[in-house]
Amino acid sequence: MTNSATASPVPRILVFDSGVGGLSVAQEIQQRLPLNPLVYASDNAFFPYGTKGEAELIARVDMVISELLKRYPADILVIACNTASTLTLPHLRSKLNLPIVGVVPAIKPAALMSKTKVIGLLATPATVARPYTHELIREYATDCQVVSLGSSELVQIAEQKLRGEMIAPNAIGKITQELMAMDNAEKMDVLVLACTHFPLLKDELAQQLPTHLTLIDSGAAIARRVEFLLADAVEPPAEYIPEHLAVFTKATAEAQQLAPALTRFGIHRQDYLGI
Ligand code: DGL
Repeated sequence: MTNSATASPVPRILVFDSGVGGLSVAQEIQQRLPLNPLVYASDNAFFPYGTKGEAELIARVDMVISELLKRYPADILVIACNTASTLTLPHLRSKLNLPIVGVVPAIKPAALMSKTKVIGLLATPATVARPYTHELIREYATDCQVVSLGSSELVQIAEQKLRGEMIAPNAIGKITQELMAMDNAEKMDVLVLACTHFPLLKDELAQQLPTHLTLIDSGAAIARRVEFLLADAVEPPAEYIPEHLAVFTKATAEAQQLAPALTRFGIHRQDYLGI
């Protein structure tokens, strides 16, 4: 793998999500690969993905990714969204000629880690319903009971948090109460955060959940995979400083409000696709 697509001295990584959730994955990538420039792309014009129909989502992701790669050539693409990955990966891989890493629910590590053999799955309603997710459970968690909850509210709350807005008191508590009221939930010892927005709320979620519950997500595994795929890339020149960029499909006041949060991820520039 060389960084020939971008002619950049260091391979450029395109990280894609419907909104800010992929930043939880971008952060893990930055920790492992601090010298690689990131293009962080948010399809805010079509956000949220978790409530969209399958055919419209496949068509939308296809169109947006094609546009992004035209405007911002990248050496590797990370679909940092469970909702999109569990649906669109085969299609994207058949079409695009670059390595693609997707994020899927961390069912396998959760099942291996669980002692009680009751694991939780917190995701978007779409990810909870996906055949891909059911297949993961059948393949890796046959010995576990899976307590699943789909929540779009939690996605919105993560967006609010990164815009620096107030989160309504007990907004997160209502969702955790709903989860803990499900059959056998008190026996859960591992909870899979299967939406990339949710690790952005990990501290808030942990505060509301029983202390014995371990929260896991796929971010670190994705970063390891990206590092592996870029292992043969050329070394950056001495004192190379990567320039990161955030791209939104639509210019909105909300996107501009994200500037301080993006700065915390080392992203100082925003661009808009207008699609
Ligand atoms: N962050 C996305 C995921 O991992 C989806 C959020 C949404 O747009 O509903 O599933």
